[in-house]
Amino acid sequence: MKLKPLLNNASSKLQKLVGDRSLFEARLLLAKVLSVELVDLIREDQIEIAESDEKIFSELVERRLKKEPMAYLLGEKEFFGMRFKVSHSVLIPRPETEDLVHESLDWIKSKRVDSNSARILDLGTGSGCIAISLSKNLPEYFEIEALDRSSEALEVARINAKKLGGANVKFIHEDFNQFEPSQKYSLIVSNPPYISTEEFEDLDEGIRAFEPRLALESGKCGLDDLLLIVARYPQYLLRPGLLALETGSFGQREAIKSRLESQSTVRIWDLNCHLFMEFG
Ligand SMILES: C[S@@+](CC[C@H](N)C(=O)[O-])C[C@H]1O[C@@H](n2cnc3c(N)ncnc32)[C@H](O)[C@@H]1O
Repeated sequence: MKLKPLLNNASSKLQKLVGDRSLFEARLLLAKVLSVELVDLIREDQIEIAESDEKIFSELVERRLKKEPMAYLLGEKEFFGMRFKVSHSVLIPRPETEDLVHESLDWIKSKRVDSNSARILDLGTGSGCIAISLSKNLPEYFEIEALDRSSEALEVARINAKKLGGANVKFIHEDFNQFEPSQKYSLIVSNPPYISTEEFEDLDEGIRAFEPRLALESGKCGLDDLLLIVARYPQYLLRPGLLALETGSFGQREAIKSRLESQSTVRIWDLNCHLFMEFG
């Protein structure tokens, strides 16, 4: 079949799922099958598509119709201006997490963290998107450790570091409940699981059925991992040191703040869904 009718056919199937984005998504999927860039596809709408490619394309369209996220079908997701490989073992990087990276970088630059204290820990690194984005935007002397309990996730993160450049990121297969750092850090950053059991059941099917549950859910109130990190990790911060966390709701941020109220040496600020705690 020629490219144009093939795309139009797929687009009309996808219409009921994604509305106006249907042609765009169909193009992205076909570009992936043909291993070309989107712009090349737009120029070539009269070419004949091989039957074998047509078959692969229609399988991808069928998977999309079952609500599988585009990032898994394409095998990548853009984050902080880079294309990160993703698989079903990792959470798809979210745009809001870029704010966590931006604010952390701003803090590091404002404190003029020097080579003596240039150490960062990323708890629950998943695809490695936070650790690698920090690495790409900081001098090479920064040592970055990135932890995950999922060996499959770390495999993806290592591929991303190799592909995108993150030579100073060391990946560690460890549970952050048990990790015993041998040194202290200027910055500890995390986007941990923070969805409550009840919220998990209400999540969009595309997330619930396809993204790793262990990356999302954290106990009855979604607070188990956040509270553990706040209780356990300040002792591993240099002074000044920043604990930067992505959180779910306003209520979660208030619960964390109330745990730290008695500590006069902590400066706390919110930025959208993130909480920043500077220990002085
Ligand atoms: C919400 S995802 C975040 C992934 C990535 N940092 C991002 O922002 O896209 C949470 C990650 O933490 C990992 N994780 C969850 N609990 C953990 C634990 N106790 N110890 C280590 N890693 C954990 C999961 O495997 C998952 O990769």
